[in-house]
Amino acid sequence: MNKRILVVSSANLDFVQRMRRIPNAGETVVESGGYSYVPGGKGANSAVTFARLGDDCIFCTRLGQDTNGARLRAIYEREGIDTRFIAQDKTTPTGLASILVEEDGTNRIIVYPGANQKLSPADVEEAFTSYPDAVFLQFEIPDRAILAAAAFAREKKIPLFIDAGPARSDFPLEQLNPIEIFSPNETEARVFSGIDPSNAENCLRASIKLSASIKAKYTVIKLGGRGAYIYDGKYYHIIPAVSVPVVDTTAAGDAFTAALVHFYLEGKDMERATYLANCAAAIVVSREGAYSSIPTLKEVLAFAEAHPLR
Ligand code: ATP
Ligand code: RIB
Repeated sequence: MNKRILVVSSANLDFVQRMRRIPNAGETVVESGGYSYVPGGKGANSAVTFARLGDDCIFCTRLGQDTNGARLRAIYEREGIDTRFIAQDKTTPTGLASILVEEDGTNRIIVYPGANQKLSPADVEEAFTSYPDAVFLQFEIPDRAILAAAAFAREKKIPLFIDAGPARSDFPLEQLNPIEIFSPNETEARVFSGIDPSNAENCLRASIKLSASIKAKYTVIKLGGRGAYIYDGKYYHIIPAVSVPVVDTTAAGDAFTAALVHFYLEGKDMERATYLANCAAAIVVSREGAYSSIPTLKEVLAFAEAHPLR
């Protein structure tokens, strides 16, 4: 049976520009690399990943009462996402992200949070009436909404999964416990632990440091082109990334964690689930944009078959 996953997180419209070179302060550069408007936001990217992998995804977020909000809602509906718990904010516009993508696929993102900043504990409480099997959180919404979601998950004994982006140095991580999987990227792992996960030894040191505040069954650090590091409190494994030509890494982290949660809830062991998440994320980095780059289950499984883990 399909899992019901409640995503409590952000929704943005992404304005993406491709650049050969990022301008210096005070400098104007003329770039004809092209631009596009694509659905994005960490929450929406993860919600779309769940939906495309076949889960029943309930998305709790806030959009503005504007054309961008209406356009995004219609797209989520077309993806089969349950939009009943998306609130509409009358006074604040829909979130917008400006994304600069360099030739090697690296991105720089500035988020105007807009309506995401108004997501309230009451919005979250209402979304829990959807009887989810799992709750998925990210940090691009207000602390009070994140903490409310963690508290409801704890009270109702629903497993909680955290994609720890974007990094927030002042966030009270210990108030999220217990957690099933906690997944930061390299920057987030460094900000939350004070240790740069530059090699296996430092990943272990960062995971142990994190475990002082985080009570998670698994910590999975996303390591970009190096793959992902799994720590279960005793042992660790590194699952290498799948080598692909990199076009745009936007949404790789969001899709990775959602895919990991999908395959974990399906009953795959952590190594296999992480490898399949690496496959999903490798497809994302080989395509342009956020939402537009997210694969279906069929695509992930075909890709995994063509790129077996060695
Ligand atoms: P983003 O902010 O770009 O969405 P992130 O910084 O949150 O991503 P990363 O660690 O950069 O997260 O990437 C997430 C996952 O995407 C990695 O664990 C890996 O599976 C895959 N990935 C990222 N970069 C590459 C790459 N160059 N080649 C293959 N896979 C990659
Ligand atoms: O993780 C990528 C996302 O971060 C983008 O889609 C952008 O909207 C920001 O939320």
